[in-house]
Amino acid sequence: MDKIIIEGGKPLKGKVRISGSKNAALPLMVSSLLVDGESVFSNVPKLHDIESIKRLLSDLGARIETTGDHVRIHAGGLCNHEAPYDIVRKMRASILVLGPLIARLKKARVSLPGGCAIGARPINLHLDALSRLGVDIKLEHGYVQASVEHLKGSDIFFDIATVTGTENIMMAAALADGVTTLHNAAQEPEVVALAEALNMMGAKVQGAGTPTITITGTSELRPVSISIIPDRIETGTFMIAAALTRGDITLVDCEPSHLEVVIDKLRHTGARVELEEKCIRVSGPNTPLSVDVKTLPYPGFPTDLQAQFMVLMSVADGVSIISETIFENRFIHVSELKRMGADITISGNTATVRGVSKLSAAPVMATDLRASACLVLAGLVGEGTTVVNRVYHLDRGYESIEKKFSALGANITRIKG
Ligand code: EPU
Repeated sequence: MDKIIIEGGKPLKGKVRISGSKNAALPLMVSSLLVDGESVFSNVPKLHDIESIKRLLSDLGARIETTGDHVRIHAGGLCNHEAPYDIVRKMRASILVLGPLIARLKKARVSLPGGCAIGARPINLHLDALSRLGVDIKLEHGYVQASVEHLKGSDIFFDIATVTGTENIMMAAALADGVTTLHNAAQEPEVVALAEALNMMGAKVQGAGTPTITITGTSELRPVSISIIPDRIETGTFMIAAALTRGDITLVDCEPSHLEVVIDKLRHTGARVELEEKCIRVSGPNTPLSVDVKTLPYPGFPTDLQAQFMVLMSVADGVSIISETIFENRFIHVSELKRMGADITISGNTATVRGVSKLSAAPVMATDLRASACLVLAGLVGEGTTVVNRVYHLDRGYESIEKKFSALGANITRIKG
């Protein structure tokens, strides 16, 4: 297994290009299943999760061709309706094929994802919403067995604003009879990107980016050519790295409007944040000030940046209260940060972070993607040599992270294992 070795203490300086968004690319690539023709996606990041979804789509009968950051998907030959356990257990986002398979083939057999490192993460809301569209759902042998004669538009009220749940139902409803209205829909930029793609395909989706989305079904969709939006979580991770290392980083090809709350929080820590179109420059304060953070659905502070922000608060002046309201087990990085000298106590879904003057390097390991990114950030300021194990988590969602940090002046290398 690969490891990342970091010699901490270097301020990061220079320019970094932000890659396409993992969580936008996954549903967009899956949406190609709705079309009998070839869709083309550009600015697709090179990530393990992207390889996993390509494998799944190809197992389902799609033809896939990758050239650089372009991925062509031809789903004319869609024939298989099963997403097997082996793929779904590796990547929960595989559940996104459920809606399109039902819409195109009228049946689907998709493995239940089960829990994961950050929480139980049920899919009950996806399933309830599909039954509202007329889908017959059975759970058998660890699989969702779904079938339908005609998808029928309906009014759906989500108890919780679910991102992939909203996306799944938008895709199914695009080929349903009549109008579907999603209430308490997720408002994330990735949902908006999917709505735009579906509209380019000929669907009628209105209201994406607000809590109420209306989808007027149509009988056929056409292929699209579309560029993936920048990754706001990668953007936030590099912004935090700049503030953390007292650096000065210019992030290009990003979307500042997707990170308003993060920009606001960073400014409150004393970091300087300058915005231009598609570009953000962040320079760090000498000592960051503590600020409180509560994760919330978009436009609130993203849970996917909570761990990284906690590193910054670990070396801030004062006490920060960090509340995690999206996932019930998303503090797994805390014990590793404590091994590096951070002063953090957890009570329920709240972490109290008392800033210390420095972190000290240690061998560390995490069991999820964002927690691993947080440990890399900790290594960038830790005194000494930090070894981050289980790098495959990072490779799921950060494109060439060590190369990007190295180009900014970090002393970071990957050891192939
Ligand atoms: N939930 C339910 N039932 C459901 C669906 C969700 O109870 O049927 C709960 C979840 O357990 C959670 C909350 O609702 O407590 C919100 O979960 P959501 O469904 O929005 O999460 P998701 O769609 O599974 C996406 C991202 C995650 C990101 C979350 C929250 C993708 C592929 N994944 O997950 O990204 O953390 O939204 O913003 O878009 C990551 O990239 O590292 C990652 C975990």
